[in-house]
Amino acid sequence: MDITATDEWAALSDHHREVASRTLRELFAEDAGRGTRLTGTAGDLYVDWSKHRVTDETVQLLVALAEKAGLPAQIKAMFAGSHINVTEDRAVLHTALRAPASVPLTVDGQDVTADVHAVLDKMGDFADRVRSGEWRGATGERITAVVNIGIGGSDLGPAMAYLALADYSDRGLTARFVSNIDPTDFAEKTRDLDPATTLFVVCSKTFTTLETLTNATVARDWLLAGVGEVEGAVAKHFVAVSTNADAVAEFGIDTDNMFGFWDWVGGRYSFTSAVGLSLMVAIGREHYGEMLAGFHTVDEHFRTTPLAENLPVLQGLLNVWYTDFFGAQTHAVLPYSQYLSRLPAYLQQLTMESNGKTVQFDGEPVTTSTGEVYWGEPGTNGQHAFHQLLHQGTSLIPADFIGFGEPNHDIGEMHDLLMANMFAQSSALAFGKTAEEVAADGTPAAVVPHKVMPGNRPSTTILAPKLTPSTLGQLIAFYEHTVFVEGVVWQIDSFDQWGVELGKVMARELAPALTSETAPEMDADASTVALVQHYRRLRGR
Ligand code: F6P
Repeated sequence: MDITATDEWAALSDHHREVASRTLRELFAEDAGRGTRLTGTAGDLYVDWSKHRVTDETVQLLVALAEKAGLPAQIKAMFAGSHINVTEDRAVLHTALRAPASVPLTVDGQDVTADVHAVLDKMGDFADRVRSGEWRGATGERITAVVNIGIGGSDLGPAMAYLALADYSDRGLTARFVSNIDPTDFAEKTRDLDPATTLFVVCSKTFTTLETLTNATVARDWLLAGVGEVEGAVAKHFVAVSTNADAVAEFGIDTDNMFGFWDWVGGRYSFTSAVGLSLMVAIGREHYGEMLAGFHTVDEHFRTTPLAENLPVLQGLLNVWYTDFFGAQTHAVLPYSQYLSRLPAYLQQLTMESNGKTVQFDGEPVTTSTGEVYWGEPGTNGQHAFHQLLHQGTSLIPADFIGFGEPNHDIGEMHDLLMANMFAQSSALAFGKTAEEVAADGTPAAVVPHKVMPGNRPSTTILAPKLTPSTLGQLIAFYEHTVFVEGVVWQIDSFDQWGVELGKVMARELAPALTSETAPEMDADASTVALVQHYRRLRGR
């Protein structure tokens, strides 16, 4: 289907011409209840979308577009395990990873519920053993550091959540996350660790990823150099998380110490699979269970709530509204929580690897803009860096403000000041300051234009009671489903990532030219040949 050829799209285009010049000042002035009416809750998340450039009619038209795109059927299909990842012919069942054991689900002959809970139980037992000190290293010492080795979806979720949930973690254990093939990553993350008390979790869905296998090999050498060739050293210091048991065994990790998942879990949707193992060790199985329950709460909201009140649906449709009708290209994520400092990085993979596509399900080129560049930093740091452009730059950048009622550390008035900044920012973006208002402050006439704040810059505010394992899970599920909604409207497969393959293959092909002792014959473009030659000179080769 060409979504832009539908009547629903045409109706939105006409509507956009009518409302694009309307301001949030006008919309709020006309409707005293807007600030509470255009809000909703999903679990503990209070979501205010009143500061978006929409009318009730916009929402109706966007919902009609979603229906035309088949969103209700696609939601059902996802939860039921249909192969909606069409290019890989796979089910998309990350929602099953956090469903309670009482919810039966069999897909393609697999008892999904039983398998998911068997792995969760195995993870829980392992986490208990490490945390209690029962699991010991090869020299009999207690484990004090867990190092997750993985990249992309096998790193970003637990790494982001370990920072987010530091307040819930066992401070006697440290978790580290090594992802980059840049040797400094491994070197810096392990420089103060003792091999005898360090446990590696090698985390890779495919167990073929160059970065991860290289780091894992380096880790094995580091361990053996540290503890010596002690019997069972690898077995006591390495566990694996993967779908590929053969490759795990070939690496030398006992498959009894492997935590499995399945091909219906996409890498960037795998955080609630065994990929969360290092996080579970850090925060304990109970907190981890609370996080999964938080995810499930928003999964259920998404599965059961009518489209017009369904918050991930509304957020996804608003993103389509700005991307395709206003030409927005980027989206700012502004958590007013230092604990969420890695949330933007996590969301970059979730959103951009999912929806950075130019081809529809049916192989035809897309007819819309797809995907947004996600970026951000915790407030208030961003205010003193890039908010200038958000307020007065020439681009329209929808923003998400994320904040909490209760802080994890309550020190004087600090949290109130933090939140005052958050509320002030979304208000200033939305309502700005006119030339008359600036002049009325006594501003010299020549400076007035520079101090005008155009306003009319849209944002969503998400307010939760407190950053807890549960609210973190709710927040991530909210974003996961937002991405799905956009993909359905754009008619793209949000669950494949073919665009990352070519670069991986080329890097493998190029590597010998960088490492060989003798000058290589290269079958590459002229720029790459020159760069490699220059690099070799820098390396003294
Ligand atoms: O290169 C992209 C990617 O395939 C991601 O989708 C994935 O999360 C990451 O690499 C890591 O893959 P794996 O878990 O198989 O090592």
